[in-house]
Parts: sequence; structure tokens; C-alpha cells
Amino acid sequence: MTDRLGIGFIGSGFNARFHIQAFTGVRDADVRGVWSPNAKHAGATAALAKQHEVGDARAYRSIGEMVADPAIDAIWLCGPNHARIDNIQEIVAGLRAGGTLKGVACEKPLARNVAEARMAARLAASVGLNTGYLENQLFAPEVTRGRELVWARGAALTGRPYLARAAEEHSGPHMPWFWQGTLQGGGVLNDMMCHSVEVVRHLLTKPGAERSSIRPVRISAHIAALKWTRPVYARRLSAAMGKDVDYRKHPAEDFARATIEYESDDGERLVGEVTTSWSFVGAGLRLSAELLGPEYSMSWNTLDSGLKLFFSREVSGKAGEDLVEKQNAETGMMPVVAEEAAAYGYEAENRHFVRCFIRGEKPMLTFEDGVEVMRILMAAYMSAAKRRTLDFPPRGLESFVPDVARGKWKPR
Ligand SMILES: NC(=O)c1ccc[n+]([C@@H]2O[C@H](COP(=O)([O-])OP(=O)(O)OC[C@H]3O[C@@H](n4cnc5c(N)ncnc54)[C@H](O)[C@@H]3O)[C@@H](O)[C@H]2O)c1
Repeated sequence: MTDRLGIGFIGSGFNARFHIQAFTGVRDADVRGVWSPNAKHAGATAALAKQHEVGDARAYRSIGEMVADPAIDAIWLCGPNHARIDNIQEIVAGLRAGGTLKGVACEKPLARNVAEARMAARLAASVGLNTGYLENQLFAPEVTRGRELVWARGAALTGRPYLARAAEEHSGPHMPWFWQGTLQGGGVLNDMMCHSVEVVRHLLTKPGAERSSIRPVRISAHIAALKWTRPVYARRLSAAMGKDVDYRKHPAEDFARATIEYESDDGERLVGEVTTSWSFVGAGLRLSAELLGPEYSMSWNTLDSGLKLFFSREVSGKAGEDLVEKQNAETGMMPVVAEEAAAYGYEAENRHFVRCFIRGEKPMLTFEDGVEVMRILMAAYMSAAKRRTLDFPPRGLESFVPDVARGKWKPR
């Protein structure tokens, strides 16, 4: 057994920086490398790792070089969605050329549609890779503890929970590619509903039981363009994100909701309700969830933070993200999420995957789970397009690509 895991990052953007911060709370791992097509950004992210004292990281010239280096034991894959398959192919080529890795952990979503997600899983399996699917919200301390207590107390005495709700909402992503359906794979549904789908599935699943102990049987979904297609906001969006993001011509949904009906192996019907939006303007990012059963309920909301600050109108500082991710204001009564990387689950998530890769164990979430999430997301797009409830899995799911991912979606 290796004592420590040397980590190499693919991608040096917002998400990689969040993970690097999270590694301050992880023992037994060192961030040793970063590759990004922009060498300057890779160097800056490697410097950030040194600054946080999470590893003596350096920038690599290629994915192949990183995989070949014995100092790198595992890859955290944090590139944009449209580069996912290329990135995995390069990792696999590096392994076939003689490199060794104990694991690859990939950010959500695993890919842009079911066919791509299956290809990602097949490629990894072809070289016997131990894989991880990075879904931070399942590791958020309140989700972990709330689930444990609900199941140990309420469910043990009065019956399993029957309804879970989860939402992720903010005012819109930070980079142009997220807004482009053809690159990202969809709009907010593909970008963020993956989180909520996994949160409701996790909450409804008995701790220790297999994923297959609850089975999706029906799904109904709705998508809409609520804010960013309004002319004034479409213009603002193009001004901020560049001419390739034009929601007057090629919009993507900024709101989505789905109801997923599950059947449990003990014959109960369960419901998961998920909502997500890029058109939510509150203090900043809001993650929330509820779990309800016959004699109990739990609720979680990251904006109900223990710390709040008040700044009067005399305090007119610069816009920032120092109080909360995707912050929308700097004055008035503002919630502060003091340790975001821990609060949103990144820290416990990284701890879990590091431990599994070191021990050669299968993580709680693998590429196969990433495929299952993608099947639900694509079924939701199908339901929204057909405007009806669908039995799961619907016909044609394996090759389905939503209109928004083809740049052809027309909001109704
Ligand atoms: N878990 C979460 O809550 C969460 C939050 C944000 C992003 N993400 C996911 O993380 C991934 C990265 O998102 P981000 O916010 O860091 O985006 P970003 O645009 O901020 O950063 C993307 C990074 O990838 C690099 N890149 C560009 N082309 C590439 C290529 N061909 N191969 C590899 N890397 C390339 C860019 O230089 C940049 O460093 C996405 O898949 C996103 O869905 C997850």
C-alpha cells in the first residue's frame, strides 16, 4: 500500500481551484501536477497548490507526460465537458504506453449525453482503471449527517422516507462554454441537475444498500428560458460572455425541474423532486434539500449559514465572491459560508476518493454511477421535449441528444 497519493489535475479553472483548496483538509495526498492547454494557467494553479501547502505541484506539457510520471498516482479530471472524451482517451493512451495510475476521478457531469458517458466508462474499463465520479453534494457534512440520523432514528422506527427534494440555484455560470449547449451538452439541466438527481437518490437509499435497491420507473420534466432570453439580459450576456453566446439565436434553458418516481426493492413508491436554475437571484449559490418520511423530515439550505454580516449603504466596496460563491450583493444582511470547500462537500469527497484509490477499493461513486445520472438527465430532456411523463428508461435514450445540445432548441 502506498502511503500517499500524488494527484495530477487536468484543467486549471474554477473547479480545480476549489478542489485544491479542499485538499488542505485531506491527509495522505499531495497535489503534484497540473495540465491545462493554457500553460500559464497551469503554472498559476500549480503555484496555488504550493501556496496552500497541499503539494509541490508543477505544470506538465501534456496529459501523457503527467500519466507517465511515477510521481502521479491519480488524476482529478476537471476540464470542460466538451473535452471529456478527448481527455480520457489521452489518459488511456498514456496507460497503454506504460504509465500507471491508481485511479481517475472525474467531475460531474461524466459527459454530455448517454452515448458519451458510456464511452467514458468503457474506455476506463478497457485499461482496468479504478474510477471515481465526483459529486460533492453527497459529501456535504449536513447531507451525510442528516441522512445518517433520519435513517437511524425516523426510518428505523416508522418506515423509510418517501419524498426527497433537492435544488441547486444561482444566477448563471462564470465561463462562456457553460452557456453554449453544443459545448456543455445542454443548459442548466445538464450542468446542475446532476447534483440534485444524485442527492435525492442518495437520501432515499438506505445507508449500506446498493444503488439498485431503488429503481427509477417514471420521470416527468419541464425546462424553460425564464431570464436570459429577455432582450435586455440576452444583450448583457453576450456583452459579458462574447459573441458566441447569443441567447436571441441559440438559447439554452435557465430553469429545469423533474419529478422522478422510484420503486424500492421492498415495493414502496418513492418520489424525488429536483429543481435547478441559472435565473435565481439571492445572496449567491443556494444548495438545498429535504427528506420526508411518515413521522419525520430534514431540511438543508446553504444560505441559512451560521454567519451573517451586515454592511450599511455607506459600505460600497467592489463586487466579489468573498462572502459566498456566485455572490450577487455586497451590502445589506448577507450570509457568509465560512468554509465553502468543506460546506459544499469537496473536502470529504476528496478524502473518500483518495482513501479508495490508495487502498485499491471501489469508491462510493464510479463512472458507472455517472452513466446512471446521465440516463436520468437525458430522460428528463426527453420528457420536457415530449411534454409528458415517460416510463423509465424511455425508448431511444441511449442515442438521445437534446435539441439544446444541437443549438436548435426553441423555448415555448
Ligand atoms: N462539483 C461542482 O459543483 C462543480 C462546480 C464547477 C464546475 N464543475 C465541473 O468541473 C468541470 C470544470 O469546470 P470549471 O468551472 O473549472 O470550468 P472553467 O472554465 O473555469 O475551467 C476549465 C478548465 O479546463 C481547461 N481546459 C480548456 N480546454 C481543455 C481541454 N481541451 N482539456 C482539458 N482542459 C481544458 C481550461 O483551461 C480551464 O482551466 C466541468 O465539467 C464542470 O461541470 C463542477
